Amino acid sequence: MPDTVIDLRSDTVTRPTPAMRAAIQAAEVGDDVFGEDPTVNRLQEKVATLLGKEAALFVPSGTMSNQICVKAHTQPGDELLCEASCHIYVNEAGGPAALSGVTCRTIEGDYGVLDLSELEDKIRPVNDHQVRTRLVALENTHNRGGGRIFPLEKIAAISSWAHRQGLLMHLDGARLWNAIVATGIPGIEWAEHFDSVSVCFSKGLGAPIGSALAGSREFVTGAKQAGMAAAGALFALEHHVDRLAEDHRHAQVIAQAVADTPGLLLDPPEVETNLVFFEVDPDLGSAKDVATVLKQRGVLVHLPGPQTIRACTHLDVSSAQAERAAEIIRQAVPQVVPAGERGV
Ligand SMILES: Cc1ncc(COP(=O)(O)O)c(C=O)c1O
Repeated sequence: MPDTVIDLRSDTVTRPTPAMRAAIQAAEVGDDVFGEDPTVNRLQEKVATLLGKEAALFVPSGTMSNQICVKAHTQPGDELLCEASCHIYVNEAGGPAALSGVTCRTIEGDYGVLDLSELEDKIRPVNDHQVRTRLVALENTHNRGGGRIFPLEKIAAISSWAHRQGLLMHLDGARLWNAIVATGIPGIEWAEHFDSVSVCFSKGLGAPIGSALAGSREFVTGAKQAGMAAAGALFALEHHVDRLAEDHRHAQVIAQAVADTPGLLLDPPEVETNLVFFEVDPDLGSAKDVATVLKQRGVLVHLPGPQTIRACTHLDVSSAQAERAAEIIRQAVPQVVPAGERGV
């Protein structure tokens, strides 16, 4: 092998540039389940804006993005219409069948491009014996079609027909960025014909991982699931498993403070890992009353129920902080004014 390799295998072999690595390193992060990851939020907003959709969701891969969309648009037993060599049908391990219970009715295209006339007779009649035709999935640019751009007029014609027939439209836009640059037609004009659009950052754009799906807010909420950055996950798996024992020790410190505090009851009584659940005696007040006094002193807890509190130890809680939280529980909770004395 010569010293310099020109790797033409795929646009997925790209490696992050030094600037991208620096950006990843400097990324602001937060808890995405609480909607508090500023980098994920910024990315999702940007994608939604570029595609003219209400919302977007960052996911690890293009396959996952497509399959989430198929799942969110269909019911088991439905059928989708797609081009015979498209990625969703050929390269996603039977995902529509395996994950959504959906059959694919394939139509041979012209390098991936379909014409409305080839779809018009493919909707099954409404009949108890037949599958329900529900979704049309197109790919742009088309991978197996050799990077072919799906002409916008053809998309517009298919989309208005599909919507008139009560079908939904999905775009596998793994390389929509290439179609945008090659034609000068902005993303919004492509995306307006689809109920959902999937785009990838890990192909030509050169990010190490990641895709996004976009659509209406309702659709994206229905599609939502935990997004994760593989590099972070891998590092965590290699470096952060053994240290969980530390979190468990910290949870014991907090659990002891709860056990020592009148009006609080550990439930379950034994804490085995990093989650400390406890109940607040209604005579003392509500979980919110207790959480409020803790918050005033700088301790944040989660409230899974009106009388229930969860304290969770993790990587960002040091031994000193666990001790301090325990001390605050011991000192502050007795200062909650009991409900009876408040005249409640
Ligand atoms: C057109 C198309 N859609 C979807 C995907 C899936 O992307 P991922 O490899 O991130 O799952 C690919 C991957 O090459 C693709 O070419």
